[in-house]
Amino acid sequence: MPRGFFLTFEGLDGSGKSTQLRKLHEWLVRSGEDVVTTRQPGGTQLGDRIRSLLLDSRRTSLDPRAELGLMFSDRAQVIAEVIRPALDRGAIVLCDRYTDSTEAYQGAGRELGSARVLALHHELCGLDPDLTLLLLPDFDASLARARHRNQSAVAVTGKDENRFESLDTAFFRRVYDQYRAIAQREPLRVVAIEGDAGVEAVHRRILSIVEERLNQHRAS
Ligand code: TMP
Repeated sequence: MPRGFFLTFEGLDGSGKSTQLRKLHEWLVRSGEDVVTTRQPGGTQLGDRIRSLLLDSRRTSLDPRAELGLMFSDRAQVIAEVIRPALDRGAIVLCDRYTDSTEAYQGAGRELGSARVLALHHELCGLDPDLTLLLLPDFDASLARARHRNQSAVAVTGKDENRFESLDTAFFRRVYDQYRAIAQREPLRVVAIEGDAGVEAVHRRILSIVEERLNQHRAS
């Protein structure tokens, strides 16, 4: 059976990527595709525990290198448990964040450097996406949405996941710039979708990109 298709979604908190991923998932299911959706951090039982360690905003003393290690522990587990088995049976895998997030947030945001992140990716993952959709709406609007969303979530669920969103604007500017640098470095894998065209317009754009890439992948 041919290997499946591995698609990742990337972008700043508040970029709308999770909404777009959900809409694409629904469209693929309606089209009769075998599709598996996962996310990072999280996506396995171990990953969910790592996610709460990472995102709990009260745990402010986490060292950046420890944070980096946890991101890759989570990733190695979800690759072994979820992503590789699905790709091996020919499924389409949609993943909300992957190593580009680590390069942007830990490499640039935390200033640990891209080389270190990419070396770990090579050692521990050894699996690159066939396609990455990078959502890049306006920087200030993304940040405002992420902060508002977290405050509402804490108020409703009592669950505090705002460790990353509570960081300062300079941190997110480094993340944003690194995402752009990755897109420039790897134009074949990464398609950047810029601007705030609205949920439906972005969804249509995503469908046309995904249809084209899937056809190419299946013809090769
Ligand atoms: P999200 O699931 O709402 O996108 O939030 C996950 C947070 O974790 C987000 O602020 C980005 C951050 N993150 C990293 O810093 N590095 C990583 O490698 C990943 C996957 C996520």
